[in-house]
Amino acid sequence: MRATFLPVAQPWIGEREKALVMEALESGWVTTGPRAQELGARIAELAGARRGLAVSSCTAALHLALAGLEIGPGDEVITTPYTFVASVNVITHVGARPVLADIEPGTLCIDPAAIERAITPRTRAILTVDYGGQPCDYDAIAAIARRHSLPVIADAAHALGASWRGRPVGSLATVTGFSFYAIKNLTTGEGGVVVTDDDALIERMTVLSLHGMNRDAWKRYAATGSWYYEVTAPGFKYNLSDILAAIGIGQLDRFAEFQRRRAELVQGYASRLQGLAEVRLPRVREGAVHAWHLYPIALELERLTCDRARVIEELRAENIGTTVNFIPVHLHPWYRDTLGYPAGSFPVAEDAFRRAITLPLHPRMSERDLDDVCAALAKVIAHFRR
Ligand SMILES: Cc1ncc(COP(=O)(O)O)c(C=O)c1O
Repeated sequence: MRATFLPVAQPWIGEREKALVMEALESGWVTTGPRAQELGARIAELAGARRGLAVSSCTAALHLALAGLEIGPGDEVITTPYTFVASVNVITHVGARPVLADIEPGTLCIDPAAIERAITPRTRAILTVDYGGQPCDYDAIAAIARRHSLPVIADAAHALGASWRGRPVGSLATVTGFSFYAIKNLTTGEGGVVVTDDDALIERMTVLSLHGMNRDAWKRYAATGSWYYEVTAPGFKYNLSDILAAIGIGQLDRFAEFQRRRAELVQGYASRLQGLAEVRLPRVREGAVHAWHLYPIALELERLTCDRARVIEELRAENIGTTVNFIPVHLHPWYRDTLGYPAGSFPVAEDAFRRAITLPLHPRMSERDLDDVCAALAKVIAHFRR
């Protein structure tokens, strides 16, 4: 057994980030300013989009996207049950109804055929999730969206750096949100960026992100700013501070190295676990570059005498941290009671949930850490093998 606990995820803040934060602190400008502008622009560039706005979280990004598209009461937005609840909460926040559509068995991303079946005259948008960092089937979804004149809002909280058929996530939907939460593949502690090619939409989201004040309100205390502003909508407080943006810029400078290491670790898992028949490894869709935010495996429960919760407990006793991504949204009490989808409504998502364990994956993990996770998993499985 390992001597120390291995967490399932961990940020890696380096000297570059610390130096940039010190510069931001010493600059005298600690709220939204030039660094937040730079981060938004650089993420847009990486993601193949024309415009980017740095915000306080991916939740904020998605909320702004929905509000910016003027989606509200009486509208329906189709999304996946196999996601973090933020993807669905934002639909509720604008007063629209989340309509859930089941996922594909292999990738655990939303199933285009299920989207098609869920469309009604009230449908106003499709909100996709790149589960674990794997791009969803953007081409099939774009074709449906075109046929029904719907925007696609991409929740790419997991998928910075992913691409589909040579095109980066961020260039494949009407508007895309990224998360820089503590454990994401790029972090600012808390933060996010929303990107789009649509100038009018980014202008509306920019205004809504800062109380509804007109565009350059963030500059109002600078020499080039003006005290005068007008409030054109009851907006939110979703701007990102320059202190956090400085961390993001430092992370971005190291992002290629992070992603290289994540991909290497995934190879390491595959070679160590491929002989273990009780475990299904994540599959990459052909034509996709996976961002590997998560490394989710599925247990072949039919070959085991215990359930998934017991495997997690036993791995914890071996000092291996894991988690489950995700408890399907329609099973949470609020959504069970308000949306009224009974258990069994989304069989693929519910089956994936029963089997799911997310194994540790972060760029500072060593080969020894990989050995420890795989040895612990093999030991637990040998114990519960049928
Ligand atoms: C799929 C998904 N969407 C949205 C979010 C929300 O991101 P944030 O914490 O930046 O608001 C998360 C966060 O974990 C997520 O996993």
